[in-house]
Amino acid sequence: MSEGIHVCEDVAAASKCLLQHSFAVFRVDGFTESKLNRSWKAGRDFLSHASQHNDKVEQFIEKYRYIKNGTLLGFNRPSSQKLLFRAQFVDCNSLEEQPWPNDFDSGELCQATKDLVPALHSILLQVHSKIREDIMSTYCDGEDECEQSEQSEHLRKKRRMSHSFDAYCPLDYFLYTNLQAGTNCSEHVDRGILICISLSSLVAGLEVMSRRDGKFYTPEKLAMFESLYKEYDSGASDLICILAGDQLLDSLNINDNMGILAIYPGIQACNHRVKQELAMARLSISYELRESANIKSHL
Ligand SMILES: [Fe+2]
Repeated sequence: MSEGIHVCEDVAAASKCLLQHSFAVFRVDGFTESKLNRSWKAGRDFLSHASQHNDKVEQFIEKYRYIKNGTLLGFNRPSSQKLLFRAQFVDCNSLEEQPWPNDFDSGELCQATKDLVPALHSILLQVHSKIREDIMSTYCDGEDECEQSEQSEHLRKKRRMSHSFDAYCPLDYFLYTNLQAGTNCSEHVDRGILICISLSSLVAGLEVMSRRDGKFYTPEKLAMFESLYKEYDSGASDLICILAGDQLLDSLNINDNMGILAIYPGIQACNHRVKQELAMARLSISYELRESANIKSHL
């Protein structure tokens, strides 16, 4: 336990925590941890290569920045504090569609990302499914009552609908360079249904606001604390922070929004930011689960 937040060891605990706070710190299994680690290292190598071209970074960006269907892909510099490599998938097999740099040995980064995406996608789908289940159970104590409940009928209909989550969800590598003072990332909410962000075991940067008490928490402190007991620390931890996105409420298709928000304030999108002062450079990976229709309308 740290600062009132804890590590969720399973999907049920993550749903419970997220429904209250709008975020949950979740431990991935060993299989996913190895994929996360591999991607983290490949992302670090690529972005440190990019940051070494700091004097000609604009040239570097122009080379690797792509606009596809109105969406900015590839290597970007959103501010002077950070570098971003956005890798997206039309589907997991269409690698020729990817904006991978061709004069950097990006094979490892490409393969590692390709392996990681389905693992993160699956975790977020499971958490979303559990969130819906938990909300449904709020409306019906027993099956008989459920049958009579207009709300639960509404939710059942939604459940029967084929899930339209698209494989075309953004996976981003962020490098906060920590080279100069300034805002690393100001308060905002993310687009999507659920978002997961890898947690560094080296530097605490991410701050997430609880919708229950309005306070900001620093989940990377948990990862850093656990790393003290590890013989070998790669820099990436086996913890991710799962955040409610701005599409979560809609995705649950709930009628009485105000009623449900009083019970589950965490359904609202998670307000988060990155600390103004970091102890060192920080690399994070984020994956945003989005709904197909919304992906199209926001391209
Ligand atoms: Fe964000």
